[in-house]
Amino acid sequence: MLAQRIKKLKPYVPGEQPRDRTYIKLNTNENPYPPSPRIAPYLKSFDIEKLRLYPDPLFTALRQAIATRYGIDKAQVFVGNGSDEVLAFAFYAFFDSTAGTLLFPEFSYSFYPVYCDLYGIEYRKVPLNRDFSINISAYLQDASCGVVFPNPNAPTGLLLSIETVTRLMEQYPEDRVVVIDEAYIDFGGQSAVCLIDRFKNLLVTRTFSKSMSLAALRLGFAMGDEDLIKALFAVKDSFNSYPADLLAQQIGEIAVKDTEYYAGITQKIMESREVLSDQLRHMGWDVLPSQANFILTGKRGLSGEAVYTRLKENGILVRHFNIEGIQDFVRITIGTDEEIQALMEAIRRLF
Ligand SMILES: Cc1ncc(COP(=O)(O)O)c(C=O)c1O
Repeated sequence: MLAQRIKKLKPYVPGEQPRDRTYIKLNTNENPYPPSPRIAPYLKSFDIEKLRLYPDPLFTALRQAIATRYGIDKAQVFVGNGSDEVLAFAFYAFFDSTAGTLLFPEFSYSFYPVYCDLYGIEYRKVPLNRDFSINISAYLQDASCGVVFPNPNAPTGLLLSIETVTRLMEQYPEDRVVVIDEAYIDFGGQSAVCLIDRFKNLLVTRTFSKSMSLAALRLGFAMGDEDLIKALFAVKDSFNSYPADLLAQQIGEIAVKDTEYYAGITQKIMESREVLSDQLRHMGWDVLPSQANFILTGKRGLSGEAVYTRLKENGILVRHFNIEGIQDFVRITIGTDEEIQALMEAIRRLF
C-alpha cells in the first residue's frame, strides 16, 4: 500500500506547540511582539467576495514590494509558503549529488538533512570551529554540488560577516549554488542580498516568521539571479500553483512596507538579547554571542535536558537538542521584558 520511499523518511520534528496549558513560550523563535498595526484595518475591511477566485500565482504585488524594499528587480524575487518551502524548492532545483556532495554546518537547521533524504541528495555535515563559528575554508576543499547555511547560524546564533560571505563567494565555483538562509539576519547581521548581482550562483532566503512576526501566515521568499528564480518557479509550478494564498500575499505586502514599525521591535529584541545574555553570564552561564532572536546557553555541571525539563515543569518552554556537542545547551528565544524576567526568576530559583 505504501511506496517504499515513505518507509525511509525521517520527518523533521518542529518545536513543541503545546495546547495543554499556557507556557511562556521561548522555544520556536517566534517574535514576542505583534505584527504591523497596519494589518488589522486591512483584515477588518477585507471583502470576503475576493476569496472566490484563485490568488496570483506569480505573487506580483508582493514580489514588487520585496524588490523595492531591497533595491532589486522583481525578477530576482521568489515567494513560497514559509522559507521552509522556499528551501525545499531550492534543494530540489539546485543540489544534485551527481555533481558532488552538498555541504552544510554540523550544527545547523535540522530541516536540511530531511530535504536531502527526501530527494536523495548526498550531504556532509562540516564541523564548526571550536568557538562554534562556521569555518568557510572547509567548504572550499571538497568537490561539492552546493552549500547551504543559515546566517546567523541556528541554533548557535553566530553570524558570518559580509566580508567573510564575500570571500566564500569569490572562491566557490561559480557553477554551483550557495544558499544562505537568512531567517534571522534582521537581528544584527548584514544581508548578502547586496551580492546577488555580482554572484549569479547566490540565493538568499528569508522568512516573514521571525523579524516580521508572521509565523502563522506561512510566508517566505528568496532573492537571487533571475535564472535561479525561474528555476524555483519551475519547481513550484510542478508542485502547487498557489502556495501563498491571497491573504498571505496581501498581508505580506503590507508588512514588508512597514519598515519603521519592524525596525522598532527588532531593535527592542536585540537590546533584550544583550540584557539577557549579560545577566546569564553574570550568573556563570556560557552564552554564545548571538546575532539572532535567540541565544544558545548552558551552565557547566547542568545538563541541557535538566534545564529544559525543570523550566518546562515551571511553565517555561525552551528548546533542547539531544545532539552530541550541543546537548549541554538550551536555545532560548528572546521574549518580552516580562517573559525574560519570569525566565530569570525561574533560573535563579531552580539552578
Ligand atoms: C534557520 C531557519 N531557516 C528557516 C526556518 C523556517 O522558517 P519559516 O518556514 O517559518 O519561514 C527556520 C525556522 O525556525 C529556521 O530556524
